[in-house]
Amino acid sequence: MKAVIGLFGYGSVGQGLHDVLNGSRGLKVAIKRIAIKDPSKGRSLPDHYFTFDMNEILNDKEINLVVELINDSEKAYEIVTSALKKGKNVVSANKKLIAEHFEELVQLQLETGASLLYEASSCSSIPIVRTLEEYYDNEMLSSVSGIFNGSSNYVLTKLQKESLSYQEALKQAQELGFVEKEPALDFGGYDAKYKLVIITGHAYGVFVKPHEVFNFGITHLHQKDIDFAKEKGLKIKTVATVKRLDDKRITCYVIPQFLAESHQLYNVENEDNGITVDAAFSNRQLFIGKGSGGHPTGSAVFFDISATLDGYRYQYKKFNQSINYEYSRNVEIDIYLRYNDPELKKKIEFSAIGQEGEGYLIGKINLDTLYMMRGAIHKDNGFIAEVF
Ligand SMILES: NC(=O)c1ccc[n+]([C@@H]2O[C@H](COP(=O)([O-])OP(=O)(O)OC[C@H]3O[C@@H](n4cnc5c(N)ncnc54)[C@H](OP(=O)(O)O)[C@@H]3O)[C@@H](O)[C@H]2O)c1
Repeated sequence: MKAVIGLFGYGSVGQGLHDVLNGSRGLKVAIKRIAIKDPSKGRSLPDHYFTFDMNEILNDKEINLVVELINDSEKAYEIVTSALKKGKNVVSANKKLIAEHFEELVQLQLETGASLLYEASSCSSIPIVRTLEEYYDNEMLSSVSGIFNGSSNYVLTKLQKESLSYQEALKQAQELGFVEKEPALDFGGYDAKYKLVIITGHAYGVFVKPHEVFNFGITHLHQKDIDFAKEKGLKIKTVATVKRLDDKRITCYVIPQFLAESHQLYNVENEDNGITVDAAFSNRQLFIGKGSGGHPTGSAVFFDISATLDGYRYQYKKFNQSINYEYSRNVEIDIYLRYNDPELKKKIEFSAIGQEGEGYLIGKINLDTLYMMRGAIHKDNGFIAEVF
C-alpha cells in the first residue's frame, strides 16, 4: 500500500516530519497537500503544495492518510473526526485533542474502521503508547511515572544547573521550538496531564477526564524553592504519575517533586523526557528520549505513518481485559507547601504536619483536598512539591 498524505500544519513538527520523510528510504509515501493558516509566512516548499482550505484535503479521494500537526486543538478535533468519518486513517501529535476526546475517538475508530495513531502526542520520541499497548499488554503495572514535558524540564534544568532566570530559560526554550503556543499548557502541568490521560488509558484501560486530574506546574516556582531543594541535595522536576492503589482503583496526578540523586529521573535533563514503568514481573524499566523538537517528534509521527501502512491499529487491549479500575483521588501524599500569606496554610486541611519553617511546611494531605485547594494555592503564588 502507498500512503498519499494530506498534512495539516507545517510548523516545527510538520517541517520535522518533512525532513524525516526526505531522509528515509523504503517507505512508499508522498505528501500531496499541506494545509496551513497564515498566508503571510514564507514557505520552504513550492506554493502548489499548500492550501488554506482544509476541505481540499478532506475531500480528496486520493489522500488516504491525514497527518494532523496543527497547534489548535479545536480545529484539530474537526479535522481528525471528519477524516475518520470519511474512512481516512489519521496520525496526530495533538495530546490535548486526544485526551479531551479520548473515549469518543476510540468509539469513532470502531464505527468507521479507520485508525488513529498518536505516539508523538505522548512524550514525543519515546514509543511509550505502543510499548504499553503491545509489550505490557498482559502484565500488571504498579505505576507509570515520569517527566512528560520537555519544555518544563528544559527550564528547570537551566534554573537549577546553570542558574539562569526563569525568563531567560523560557526565551531559550521558545527559540528552540519546545514551547506550546500557550506556554501555560507546558509550565502549568497541563501538557503533562494530557499525556498522562492518554498513558493511563493504555496502561490501565481507564478513560480519565483531564479536568478531574490534579495538575500543578512550575509557574509559581521561586528562588526560595530552588534553594530549599539545593540545600538538601535534591532537584525539582515536574513528574506525572499514574499508579494502581489496589485491585479496584488507580490514581493519577502531575506535580513537581523533590528528587534525590538516587532517583532514576534525577539525571533526565533539558528537553529530555524520562518514563519509569513498574510492573509485577519485569520490575522497573526506564525510558529516556527527546520530549520536544521538530525532528524527534517528526520521527514519532513517521513511525506511526509506517505502522499505519503495515495495517497496525491500537486494539486498546487494557480496555478489553475487564479489570474496570476506577479513578480515585482518595490517596494521601506528602507535600512541601511554600506560601506567601500565612492564612493559606490555615485554610488547607493537612492530615499531619511534619516540619515547619519560615514560609513553608511539609505535611501529609489527601490528593482530593489538594485538588479542591489548587485555586487558593495559585492565588497565593504558592508552590507545592511532592516529597518522599
Ligand atoms: N513542538 C514539539 O516539540 C511537539 C512535541 C510533541 C507534540 N507536539 C504537538 O504537535 C502539534 C504541532 O506542534 P508544532 O510545535 O509543530 O506547532 P507550530 O510550530 O506552532 O506549528 C503549527 C502549524 O499549524 C498550522 N495551523 C494552525 N492552525 C491551523 C489551521 N486552522 N489550519 C491549518 N493549519 C493550521 C500553522 O500554520 P501557519 O504555518 O500558517 O502558522 C503551523 O504550520 C501540536 O499538537 C503539538 O502539541 C509538538
